[in-house]
Amino acid sequence: MTDTDEKKHVVTIDVNGARRIATVEARKLLVHLLRDDLGLTGTHVGCDTSQCGACTVDIDGQAVKSCTVLAVMADGSSITTIEGLAPGGGALHSVQAAFHEHHALQCGFCTPGMIMAVRQLLKQNPIRPKATSVTNSPATSALHRLHQHRARSSIPCLGGATP
Ligand code: FES
Repeated sequence: MTDTDEKKHVVTIDVNGARRIATVEARKLLVHLLRDDLGLTGTHVGCDTSQCGACTVDIDGQAVKSCTVLAVMADGSSITTIEGLAPGGGALHSVQAAFHEHHALQCGFCTPGMIMAVRQLLKQNPIRPKATSVTNSPATSALHRLHQHRARSSIPCLGGATP
């Protein structure tokens, strides 16, 4: 069997409020569907081994590393990517604005994934998160690994922000 013989699957997902239909190989990862087939290149691939969180998107209300999900597994899901937070170049999402205000990035490559993870943190802790809850949250594991002190410092100012 060659690659061209591999069976294809139709995947229907809602991405940033728009219905998208794609035909994919069973082995295709969601991150590659988003980036390569749908052109949503704001979701980045850092490690490709579920370590860094750069590929984090929202799937049905949960922050998920999209390199850990096969595209076929996302069939029927509603997905929000970083592009969906400020569609059409509109006003920044409150988390994006806080990152901007606090210069919460180094090179910026992983920042979209961090923002998507922080949205999840705020859903779980809608009251102003304390530094300790930020430090201990699994949703911010990417921040810890990358020693993003500025990113962490931006989160406590987001009390009341819309996730
Ligand atoms: S690319 Fe690093 S966790 Fe997905």
